Amino acid sequence: MDAIHIRGGNALFGETKIQGSKNAVLPVMAAALLIEDVCIIENCPCISDVHHMQQLLIGVGCKVSRTDQTLMIDARNLSEDTMSGENVTGMRSSITLLSAMLARMGEVTMAYPGGCVIGERPIDLHLNALRRMGVSIYEKEGCFTARVKELEGTVIRLPISSVGATENVLLASVMAKGVTVLQNAAMEPEIVTLCEFLREAGAVIEGIGGSVLIIQGGHKLHGIRFRIPADRIVAGTYLMSVLGAGGHIFLEDAPVAQMRSMLRAAEEMGAQIHIFREGLNVIADENKRAIPYLKTEIYPGFPTDMQSPLMTALSTAKGVSVIEETIFENRFHIVEQLKKMGACIEMKGKRKAVIVGVDSLLGCEVTAQELRGGAALVIAGVMALGETVVHNRHFIERGYEDICRDYQNLGVSICTG
Ligand code: EPZ
Repeated sequence: MDAIHIRGGNALFGETKIQGSKNAVLPVMAAALLIEDVCIIENCPCISDVHHMQQLLIGVGCKVSRTDQTLMIDARNLSEDTMSGENVTGMRSSITLLSAMLARMGEVTMAYPGGCVIGERPIDLHLNALRRMGVSIYEKEGCFTARVKELEGTVIRLPISSVGATENVLLASVMAKGVTVLQNAAMEPEIVTLCEFLREAGAVIEGIGGSVLIIQGGHKLHGIRFRIPADRIVAGTYLMSVLGAGGHIFLEDAPVAQMRSMLRAAEEMGAQIHIFREGLNVIADENKRAIPYLKTEIYPGFPTDMQSPLMTALSTAKGVSVIEETIFENRFHIVEQLKKMGACIEMKGKRKAVIVGVDSLLGCEVTAQELRGGAALVIAGVMALGETVVHNRHFIERGYEDICRDYQNLGVSICTG
């Protein structure tokens, strides 16, 4: 029942609309918890990670309601300072609630966050940054308590440009006393969205989009209506699909300005890209070229979240491609599954894959182990001759609103089952 069935092997034709961004909406929901008021969030994707975040907000006393793609969060009265259970442990983004809860309640007890099995994913950077802002943290087995009298602005340099740690420092610093200077901040588009949300709500932040953020804390925040931008990784997923299977598609609302590294890769593989105000037009030939070497990088480099979709598209390219993963240490789970479908991929250590293009993939039963790897297996199914069954659909539903609907719009024979 928890599967996706695909009859593949045909080129893609058609157009589909790109949903709102998962990695933008989750921190914005955490930021709404900071604000003692009502926020309206538009273009909110209907995915299970958002549902879990809603449950977490409700669990600490927020009123949350949804009408279609619009979410209303009323965080005027909070009642709980403990967060545990599957909604915390099953989702990495639960950690962004740490600063928001500290700022509102002065204390929070949380289970350690979970998320995809793509590496160790520690939270030391989050906790160390908050310690510098005056927070005391007591770690116990499986959970920790954080406490602060008053958050204090300071200078923080992140040893790694972490997306999540940048989000936590931002949320803490807008409520802190004084100025916070965050060096080596992540520059991903989702950080820019979070800064814009906070700024519209009354926060004072300089350096948005750069690696040094200067935040003047202590300004009163008020409720706002805010629109979540389209999801660059979802758009990239369909881009990689047409590169893999060939065809001509239009991705309405695709956030092209955030997709430059992906578009460069697509052009290197031989695709024709046309950018319109309304979205992205891609024409891809089945005779695609290999990419001799590409590594994943922090933004604006090629995103780690697109690594397995790209590897899948390259599995039938002419020539040899090499992909190096520099962000997460364990993000090649799908290699064995792709090999079952006929791909020729050799791992060089844990972080480098050598892909020798084969003529075609062959449909079979495969199993998703995490979100983006799961989406990549659906891409493989779209490319493969015959029927593919991708098990563990629930991983894909963490981030894709309705992947079958989107592919059906592109002419693919695909359904859940
Ligand atoms: C965010 O994860 C995204 N998740 C990920 O997308 C994305 O892959 C990642 O950023 C990189 O772009 C969300 O936005 C919800 P990091 P995050 O902190 O914040 C190490 C998807 O598929 N690190 O930037 O957890 C870490 O281990 C997901 O949508 C520490 O060592 O990523 C990694 O190697 C998967 N200590 C590197 O930093 C810490 O305390 C970057 O991680 C934190 C991170």
